[in-house]
Amino acid sequence: MDYSKLKVPNHVAIIVDGNGRWATEKGMSRSEGHNEGFLNVKRLSAYIFSKNIKYLSAYLFSTENFKRSQGEVSFLMNLLVGKLKEILEFCHEEKIKAIFSGRKDNLSDKVIKAMKKIEEETSIYKDRVFNICFNYGGHAEIIDATKKIVEDVENGKLDINKLDEDTFSKYLYQDLPPVDLMIRTSGEQRLSNFMLWQNSYAEFYFPKTYFPDFDEKEFDKAILEYTKRDRRFGGIDYENKNN
Ligand code: IPE
Ligand code: IPE
Ligand code: MG
Repeated sequence: MDYSKLKVPNHVAIIVDGNGRWATEKGMSRSEGHNEGFLNVKRLSAYIFSKNIKYLSAYLFSTENFKRSQGEVSFLMNLLVGKLKEILEFCHEEKIKAIFSGRKDNLSDKVIKAMKKIEEETSIYKDRVFNICFNYGGHAEIIDATKKIVEDVENGKLDINKLDEDTFSKYLYQDLPPVDLMIRTSGEQRLSNFMLWQNSYAEFYFPKTYFPDFDEKEFDKAILEYTKRDRRFGGIDYENKNN
C-alpha cells in the first residue's frame, strides 16, 4: 500500500500474541509457533520501517512469562542467543538500531551478552529505532525509574520539586516518544503490563489474527484504521463543526 499521503504514526508498539494458538491449531508445537513469530517480527519490522515509521516497540517476553514451563521459557531465551548472527545481519541490512527494555537480573549471562552485542553493533544507526521488550514489565519499569529518581534526589543530582513528566520519562528504560498506535494480535484486548507510561494516549487496535499471520496487508488495515481516529489529547477543536 502507498503510505506517502497518509499521516503515519511516529511510534508503533506491538504485543506479539497468539504464537502458541497458531501452532496448536495446526497440530504443531508451541516452539514452532515461536519460530514462526520470530520470522514474522523480521518481515513485519522491515515493512514498518520502510513506511517511514521511526520507532517500533515489540513485546516479546514479559516479566510474567517466567510463569510458563521451564521448557518454553528456555526456548524463548535461546531464540535470542541462537539467532544472534541472523538478528545482527538483519539489523545491518535494514539499518536498524536495536535496543532492549526490561530487567536484566534474572536473565542468563548468555542472553545479556547477546543483547549487549546487538545494542553495541547497531548503535551506529539513528533513523530507525527498534525497542525490544524482553523480560519487560510496565510496573517493573516504573518502580525501577522511581528507584533511580530517589537515588538522584539523595545525591543532589535532582531537585524533587523539578520532577515533571518529561524528567520522569528520562528515567524509564529508554528515552522514547509516546506510543501512537498500539497493536495486540490474537484477539486479546488487554495491555498485560506493556508500556503503561508510554501507552497513556495511544490508539489501540486489536485484530483477531494470530501474530505469525499478521502480515503486511493486516498492518495496512491497522494504519488505515489509525488514520480515521480522532486524536484529541483532552482538547477540543472548536473550529471543527463535527465536534
Ligand atoms: C507469543 O504468543 C508471545 C509470548 C509471550 C512469547 P503466546 O506464546 O502468548 O501465544 P498464545 O497466546 O499462547 O497463543
Ligand atoms: C503478553 O502476552 C506478553 C507478551 C506478548 C510478551 P501473554 O500471552 O503472556 O499475555 P496474557 O497472559 O494472555 O495476558
Ligand atoms: Mg499469549
